[in-house]
Amino acid sequence: METAPVIKASALGKSVSGPEGVLKILEGVELTVNPGESIAILGASGSGKTTLLGLLAGLDTATSGHIELAGTSLDSLDEEQRAGLRAEHVGFVFQSFHLLPALTAEENISLPLELSGNVDHQRVSRVLEDVELTPRRRHYPRQMSGGEQQRVALARAFVTRPRILFADEPTGNLDQATGQHIIDLLFSMNREYGTTLVLVTHDLTLAARCGRIYRLDGGRLHEGRA
Ligand SMILES: Nc1ncnc2c1ncn2[C@@H]1O[C@H](COP(=O)(O)OP(=O)(O)O)[C@@H](O)[C@H]1O
Ligand SMILES: [Mg+2]
Repeated sequence: METAPVIKASALGKSVSGPEGVLKILEGVELTVNPGESIAILGASGSGKTTLLGLLAGLDTATSGHIELAGTSLDSLDEEQRAGLRAEHVGFVFQSFHLLPALTAEENISLPLELSGNVDHQRVSRVLEDVELTPRRRHYPRQMSGGEQQRVALARAFVTRPRILFADEPTGNLDQATGQHIIDLLFSMNREYGTTLVLVTHDLTLAARCGRIYRLDGGRLHEGRA
């Protein structure tokens, strides 16, 4: 059993320069996430949740501090090396699904495997089954409901068996019942595949299902429900 942290962020900061000078989005963020854990990050709109997820996932670079992702320090990696690390260890789910409109459900799901040269039809069939979309496998995104599209996005994120899944408001565009179904699937796949979940959300039902809850406020990350 792997026990080293899958994410370790220390003294993490992000500032950007804009028309009004330097804007500090994040400051002194400390976060350690262990394998198989689930954590929720809450915070008001504009508090830096998406920015933090982008840094932790190696999509964006920090202004200060350090991040280790899946045991590798991101500090010295270039964009291509970070992309390689993401392809190997990281899955993403976004609020607005981000499916490719010209590909069917099945093709969207198998894309990450094709990009890494590891096409595996059995794995694709299995995740299609996990998200209960086998009967919709030949449908295009426009031929599916929002909830079905998000289930395709979940299957696409899990098909590579990532160690870490990052989700940015995964239920934000769904009604409550549909969102609840997505949450149930997220946690059943977290158990089935041992995937670590890092979820940004406004949804308190979703946050309550996580092992730990954090809040972003004033650029800083605080643990706890209050
Ligand atoms: N590249 C950028 N340049 C300037 N400001 C940015 C940039 N990215 C984010 N921001 C600002 O940083 C703050 C945090 O944004 P974001 O991380 O998207 O917040 P959240 O996801 O919590 O709503 C917002 O005020 C946003 O306008
Ligand atoms: Mg956001």
